[in-house]
Amino acid sequence: MTRILILGANGQLARNTIPVFLEQGHVELTLYLRRAKRLTNPNPARVRIIEGDVLDRSALETAMHGQDVVYANLAGDMAAQARTIIAAMNSVGLKRLIFISSMGIYGEVPGERYRSVLDPYRDSAALIEASDLDYTIVRPGWFTHDAAVDYQLTQKGEPFKGHDVSLNSLSDLIAKLSLSPKLAVRCSVGVSRV
Ligand SMILES: NC(=O)c1ccc[n+]([C@@H]2O[C@H](COP(=O)([O-])OP(=O)(O)OC[C@H]3O[C@@H](n4cnc5c(N)ncnc54)[C@H](OP(=O)(O)O)[C@@H]3O)[C@@H](O)[C@H]2O)c1
Repeated sequence: MTRILILGANGQLARNTIPVFLEQGHVELTLYLRRAKRLTNPNPARVRIIEGDVLDRSALETAMHGQDVVYANLAGDMAAQARTIIAAMNSVGLKRLIFISSMGIYGEVPGERYRSVLDPYRDSAALIEASDLDYTIVRPGWFTHDAAVDYQLTQKGEPFKGHDVSLNSLSDLIAKLSLSPKLAVRCSVGVSRV
């Protein structure tokens, strides 16, 4: 059984990924979000819902007990969020973190210069890269609603290829990363449509 804690579980990509996780028989989910009433529990035998703010370290640590993987699907003050997540994971002894970021944080998208709008993504990625966690930072292109699962990865230091990627592709990748403790560990991967 793999126990996965999803932070920001009401986010668009998280909501797309929850059913993909549940297709795997050996997964249990904890959905952590603000204003939890917004989510209906899709499978009470295997899914727990906890109301909480990621910046509330004590609530976060409580939610982290007994988990194997943290999947962070956040927006907003991502540096403060990353700081709290790293501290809580260290304190609980949890290592595996999948953290959704964005393309463009390293200036890796040919012909594009994303400016301060990406600072929270850059700052949070730098904090995670400086941690001792078994992280994978996921840098998606623009989300599309195509049904297709069709994606390629680029590594940090390589130019980003393409421009967009389907939510279903990202959900497929997030599920694989979450269920493969050694896949793309301490890597920051760009994800785009082939
Ligand atoms: N859309 C694109 O094309 C694209 C492309 C590349 C990267 N991205 C990035 O990928 C990430 C995931 O995308 P998405 O569409 O799933 O984002 P989203 O729908 O905006 O979800 C982000 C979630 O973060 C939660 N959140 C923010 N601060 C929080 C806190 N302090 N405690 C708990 N939860 C908190 C929000 O909760 P509330 O609902 O309570 O506010 C929201 O549900 C985002 O950072 C997005 O910018 C998006």
